Amino acid sequence: MTDITLFPQPQQLERQTGAFTLNAHTRLFAADGALGEMLANYLRPATGFGLPVHPLDEDILGDATNAILLVSTADLIDAEAYKLDVRPERVTLRAGGRSGFLHAMQTLRQLLPAQILSDERIEGVEWTIPCVIISDWPAFGWRGLHLDVGRHMFPVGFIKKFIDTMAFYKFNTFHWHLTEDQGWRLEIKKYPRLTEIGAQRAESPIPADPKRGDGKPYGGFYTQDEAREIVAYAAERGITVVPEIELPGHSLAALTAYPELGCAGSDYQVRASWGIDSNIYCAGNDAVFEFLQDVFEEVLALFPSTYIHIGGDEAPKERWRACPKCQARIKAEGLADEDELQSWFIRQIESWLNERGRHLVGWDEILEGGLAPNATVMSWRGSDGGIAAANAGHDVIMTPTTYCYLDYYQHEDWTREPPAIANTLTLEQAWQFVVVPEEIAPDKQHHILGGQGNIWTEYIPNADQVEYMAFPRAIAIADILWNHPKERSYDALVERLREHLPRLDMMGVNYRQLDE
Ligand code: ACM
Ligand code: ZN
Repeated sequence: MTDITLFPQPQQLERQTGAFTLNAHTRLFAADGALGEMLANYLRPATGFGLPVHPLDEDILGDATNAILLVSTADLIDAEAYKLDVRPERVTLRAGGRSGFLHAMQTLRQLLPAQILSDERIEGVEWTIPCVIISDWPAFGWRGLHLDVGRHMFPVGFIKKFIDTMAFYKFNTFHWHLTEDQGWRLEIKKYPRLTEIGAQRAESPIPADPKRGDGKPYGGFYTQDEAREIVAYAAERGITVVPEIELPGHSLAALTAYPELGCAGSDYQVRASWGIDSNIYCAGNDAVFEFLQDVFEEVLALFPSTYIHIGGDEAPKERWRACPKCQARIKAEGLADEDELQSWFIRQIESWLNERGRHLVGWDEILEGGLAPNATVMSWRGSDGGIAAANAGHDVIMTPTTYCYLDYYQHEDWTREPPAIANTLTLEQAWQFVVVPEEIAPDKQHHILGGQGNIWTEYIPNADQVEYMAFPRAIAIADILWNHPKERSYDALVERLREHLPRLDMMGVNYRQLDE
């Protein structure tokens, strides 16, 4: 153990004696000036130091003093890997590419006194960085947080702040859940009614008494310009935004806007209560696929992510059972039942996405009725779906409710907590997250790309509450996905968090206090 607390814990850290002190004369040297500026921008507000960025000249490497150097290296194969060498005379960050440098910068920010995270100048702090040699890389390539903006939405400014906090913990994937029964939240130029009609609901359930409505119309959406702004902001911080457009279920908001896309064809209302709606896209109507392709055309133009999430969860089949068009499709395609019809539906979307170089991700229900050939499965109803998919040779992202549902209560005594969805996930339980269950054959374990925490927002009406539910559990998840510790002492985690959490105060990030 050392006197240093970092989240996530680096793979290798050697404490050396002494410290580097950042002062008004410290200079930054970087081959990539934009990266150098990024680091300077992290360090300037609290210190007030100029921290000029200079081109990196090979001559300086060995003998620059009072300097921070960003040095590219070809030695690190993983693009996210980095090395950090802090000596009294200089600090050297080494990485093979941008994402590695970004991770090194976050480590450096955590090594400095907590006040470095303030966005206002703080006088009287000695800006020391303890001497260390760190060699670090992630255990998993998919380290995500998900945010549902269908049930409640949050301002663009908060989404950016959330992305900043994610970057601080070396998350690299923001899964943005954009469409729901209760609201469609992304502007689609070709279908303006999706946001004119589909982004509004008559009222919302009252958190403490969800059987009753609050009588207040609720709505909003992100424009395409805002989506682009968020994607660019995230990319600059090493985070990929994976959009989710739900199909065939969780689509009542879209059906309300364009009723001809549902089996019944009329009488839809954006859902004003929580829960799953039985009205879903009609699988027998070719216009549904034209609509979805048009929507995805615009989505692909906004989101460069290779992975595109199509939902696929919780699609009740009763409308399909009663619909002549859906039944005709089952016959025409030689399908056995409605589960196979869902599979067929998803295969249509998958082949369209694959032709455009994108990769389909769906919740584990996409296993029912047969998995689309190249699909990646997000295992949420426990780990079994992920185990089955990985053993069948499919890629998997682990997000089981057991460890990853950050909308669940954080304490068994619900009376002590703000209203949440009726389940419990303590920090201690999140810390037990099994990313690679032993039921997965050794030669199939590489199919586990990683995992993520999910934030469903039925009971999360505002940004403060998103942060309260996310932290500190998401910090534990970040630690597991980056460092993948085999031995996990909960007491040691709590001790580290006690040391670390004041940093969130410095950043103005809300979180749940640790239990005494
Ligand atoms: C889910 O929680 N319905 C994926
Ligand atoms: Zn139908």
